Amino acid sequence: MREELLSPDGDDEERTEEVGLRPQSLEDFVGQEQLKGHLRVMLEAARGREQSMGHLLFAGPPGLGKTTLATIVANEMGATIHVTSGPALEKAGDLAAILTKLEDGDVLFIDEIHRLARPVEEVLYPAMEDFQLDLVLGKGPAARTMRLPVAHFTLIGATTRTGLITGPLRDRFDYPARLDYYEPEELRSIVLRAAGILGVAIDEDGATEIAGRSRGTPRISNRLLRQVRDFAEVERDGKITNAVARDGLEFFGVDERGLDKATRALLTSLCTMFEGGPVGLKTLSISVSEPTETVEDVYEPYLIQQGLLIRTPQGRVATVAAWRHLGLSPPTSSPDRDTPPGLFD
Ligand SMILES: Nc1ncnc2c1ncn2[C@@H]1O[C@H](COP(=O)(O)OP(=O)(O)OP(=O)(O)O)[C@@H](O)[C@H]1O
Ligand SMILES: [Mg+2]
Repeated sequence: MREELLSPDGDDEERTEEVGLRPQSLEDFVGQEQLKGHLRVMLEAARGREQSMGHLLFAGPPGLGKTTLATIVANEMGATIHVTSGPALEKAGDLAAILTKLEDGDVLFIDEIHRLARPVEEVLYPAMEDFQLDLVLGKGPAARTMRLPVAHFTLIGATTRTGLITGPLRDRFDYPARLDYYEPEELRSIVLRAAGILGVAIDEDGATEIAGRSRGTPRISNRLLRQVRDFAEVERDGKITNAVARDGLEFFGVDERGLDKATRALLTSLCTMFEGGPVGLKTLSISVSEPTETVEDVYEPYLIQQGLLIRTPQGRVATVAAWRHLGLSPPTSSPDRDTPPGLFD
């Protein structure tokens, strides 16, 4: 087992500053109103009955607040949170060791839960359902199983890929939730809140500009805010106005739709090298030297949501809007669909 109890932060890009921006209570968590409403009711009910919360699954693209919500749920329950991830749990025994250490009410957060190895996942089933651990002792015909009780814990799983969670695992969650991209106004509040914490001078229009280019993602709005802050301090008088935000974002290569260099490179490759597709995920990923997982989980969901790219059984296809966004003229046969199906499954 490589990592057992990390700080609740699997992301290498996240620095101490980022940790300070993480909301600590449901009240500070902006947006996802319906989900927050449901969590409030479940938290209050669990507290009223002095029981642990049911098991929660948070699914959605990176940077939307899955890890943040897991820590908030633990905070609101006054519970200890144990953090691990699917790939860190290599053997069934790795998970068994964690489960036996849990105490009643503890939260176990498993990030990237879709990457759990099957034998590890099987240990999880009786633990989630009956708070039991089935240990296999010995090998072959002499093998015996032993049942051990597990404390009444709450499992919180996070995944960027709902489609990869097996049915038996998904069915054992009491509440599977899906996080959606944020609205521009919500991102503006997030930018203003973060600016307040970081002590950055910013006006409403500056925040609106950053929010509009954040690809619906709080992690990106926080990152852009820090970049524009640096730009404002070095190249301007330190205050982020709309004009300063525009110049700063252009300086860092973030375009009007919030696409960064890497995402634009992907779209450009799709249009210029493959004539807009259809092209297979593997071929497309190789053309921009990125792992297929990164292309699928990080770049594509927002391009799909924006109607710039669609997934077809034949492969990835650029829409007319994509050609136009890149300032290229689309071939006459380009599809032009607004809300394609299958956001990130
Ligand atoms: N609703 C929100 N309000 C304010 N800030 C938020 C919100 N959601 C996320 N953030 C900020 O965005 C950052 C990224 O969120 P988080 O790490 O929870 O995303 P994640 O969904 O776990 O991403 P990943 O899939 O990459 O693990 C957090 O550090 C936090 O500062
Ligand atoms: Mg996370």
